[in-house]
Amino acid sequence: MARRQTATLRTLRPVPPVWEIRLDLEYAPGAGSYVLADLGGPVREPLFPSVVDDTGFCTIVPRGHAVTRYLPGTPIDVIGPLGQGFRLSAAGYVPDRLLLIAEVDELPWLQPLYQAAPSVALVVEATTRGRLPPPARFPPTLELTLVTRDGSTGYLGPLESDGPTPVGIECALPRVRELVAWAECICIAGDMARYPALARLVQEVRFRPQTDFAQALVRVPMPCGVGVCDICRVTTRHGERRACVDGPVFDLMDFLE
Ligand code: FES
Repeated sequence: MARRQTATLRTLRPVPPVWEIRLDLEYAPGAGSYVLADLGGPVREPLFPSVVDDTGFCTIVPRGHAVTRYLPGTPIDVIGPLGQGFRLSAAGYVPDRLLLIAEVDELPWLQPLYQAAPSVALVVEATTRGRLPPPARFPPTLELTLVTRDGSTGYLGPLESDGPTPVGIECALPRVRELVAWAECICIAGDMARYPALARLVQEVRFRPQTDFAQALVRVPMPCGVGVCDICRVTTRHGERRACVDGPVFDLMDFLE
């Protein structure tokens, strides 16, 4: 049975081009899971955590999002935590070496995992240098790999591509393969259309990875959150699944074609 709670909007902070919202909440969602918030619209809005602590969580929303119209101190009716988030102990132990891979717009949803293992490596991909956060914004404990689609900084993306590389620029793929071989667990947040190619990459390096060795977050509209409306269906190799209850974090290998 889904839990109903009252969150309190604590702070709203512009972090151009988005807003960071802090909500106090007794039972906050973990990385990759979410709550559905009643923000006065026709359907509830899913809110994913970018920071989780003992008193609540932060989330990131676009400019103009319904929650930005509320004032600090406003109570908000939420349902959740909902869904299957990232499962770091899937193998029965907490991994020592965790690899995080994100497209820059989806990076907030991996932030709660920055300290989740003794060694954490992060690969972030953006279209160009100006879209990447400055390296100083990342915790120094992270082993950071930057990738740009135009080669303006870091490695040349896309990270799953083995296309031709201009002289003097290093392609991301060999570095990503190295990290996939190093990792005990991989968590990914990006465009779902890329997951089949990333699943092939992981399979090539690890041959037969165990269940949940690599996990991927799928973010699609989830109006009901409890498996009733069927709007959040995603196609996997096991057939159609509902992101709201079967995910939104899936085994990456479910997207192998
Ligand atoms: S959001 Fe309604 S079935 Fe998933």
